[in-house]
Amino acid sequence: MDNSILLIDDEPLFLDSIRRGLNLCGFKNVRSEQDPNKAAALFKEGRSFDVALIDLNMPETNGIELLNVIKNTSPNTECLMVTAVNEVSAAVECLKNGARDYLVKPISADTLGLAIKCALERKRVLDILHPGKKMTSTALTHIEAFRSIITRSPKVLKILKEAELHAASDIPVMITGESGTGKELLARAVHCASSRTKFSFTPINMASVTGSLFDAEFFGCTKGAFTGAEKTRIGHLEQTNKGTLFLDEIGDLPLDLQGKLLRVLQEGEYLKLGTSKPQKTDVRFISATNTNLDRFKDNGMFRNDLYYRLKGVCLHLPPLRERKEDIPLLADKFLKEFSDVYGKDGISEEAGILLMNYDYPGNIRELRSIIQLAVNLAQGRQISAGSLPTHLRKRKPVASGYSQKEGSPVATLKEMEKAHILKAYEQTGKIKAQTAKLLSIGLNTLRRKLEVYGVA
Ligand SMILES: Nc1ncnc2c1ncn2[C@@H]1O[C@H](COP(=O)(O)OP(=O)(O)OP(=O)(O)O)[C@@H](O)[C@H]1O
Ligand SMILES: [Mg+2]
Repeated sequence: MDNSILLIDDEPLFLDSIRRGLNLCGFKNVRSEQDPNKAAALFKEGRSFDVALIDLNMPETNGIELLNVIKNTSPNTECLMVTAVNEVSAAVECLKNGARDYLVKPISADTLGLAIKCALERKRVLDILHPGKKMTSTALTHIEAFRSIITRSPKVLKILKEAELHAASDIPVMITGESGTGKELLARAVHCASSRTKFSFTPINMASVTGSLFDAEFFGCTKGAFTGAEKTRIGHLEQTNKGTLFLDEIGDLPLDLQGKLLRVLQEGEYLKLGTSKPQKTDVRFISATNTNLDRFKDNGMFRNDLYYRLKGVCLHLPPLRERKEDIPLLADKFLKEFSDVYGKDGISEEAGILLMNYDYPGNIRELRSIIQLAVNLAQGRQISAGSLPTHLRKRKPVASGYSQKEGSPVATLKEMEKAHILKAYEQTGKIKAQTAKLLSIGLNTLRRKLEVYGVA
């Protein structure tokens, strides 16, 4: 590999062992610098490296200052920070300043090789997407795996292009977006476009993972490993080996379990309950969230280090109301999907206008449910305005304007209930358990209702 790597550390022995470790991993173009000022001077002179490995704690200049110089002079250089155990909070500060990752000493050759490969992969894609001075001629093909995702929105096409470029690598992907925007569909497409496609894609709803079962579910257990372990159980990590683990609703994973997941991501191994030899895992992680994970992280509800590990690449799917050009395409797709059963072949002009004017709080899933219902209700061969739900037929949809103005049509009780529940759901940052508590209804009742609204 001819990727250029610069190592900066004041300890010559450490530099020597890291350089040898990198050579063993196949990296030949490695330069080391003991003096951070000399390293800074290299970048100021216009030299560029693909990856810089920077010790956070050096006597002359601290690592953060050097990081800032590198990011200002050579933004596409991927920076990895090297820290001691007691400096992790400073390392997280570096992530906020543009570092790609941090590694805690002592560092094994495997961990280092993996971190550098991940950084190089991200750089490869950034160089294509934001070429700057460096132009590459890599051809982009809209490969088969992404065909199930219907769109002509430039915003979404850009996301798909980025997803496609990252698909082949093992870099962790985090998909964000409101409920029903197609996060799981995109995660599956990334899996199908990768060489892991022959192996499992395992979706796990992290909101349903409880403390006591986490180890058994993820790591598996041998018979008799704990009271109640009546038979050997294969955990998600073993089951999905060589495949993709889709961590859905990652924001709902309780804080105490986040540390366990982090260890797997950091070390690439885990201990099956009832055994003493750690098992290696080769799993690609894709996570998804419809909550504002940044806010969770800032409030201490989500671990900083896990957040940055999972967010190797972030793909944000915009809500349907911000990509209205997709509504006719999607409506047509769903019409075809259901018309086999119900024999419909079109949407009237008036119904089309109503579909375009609606805000879709439940996004594409809600549009799909609306078309399914309309196909079912429509009398003739076409979906007419009359076969659409009443809230679409009002000029201002109830779901997007909560308060009723004087003189506006009176909403039905069902519509009021829906608007009230969706409002509470938004207010709690879309945390179902909190919404149920706020509304004094059972969690399952809430889940059922959200499903009917096409929101969950
Ligand atoms: N661009 C698209 N083209 C075709 N179908 C789509 C598209 N986006 C989403 N869908 C369909 O909409 C439905 C919801 O998508 P999906 O389950 O991927 O959403 P989600 O973002 O994971 O939702 P949630 O946050 O509620 O889990 C699915 O039936 C999916 O197939
Ligand atoms: Mg989903």
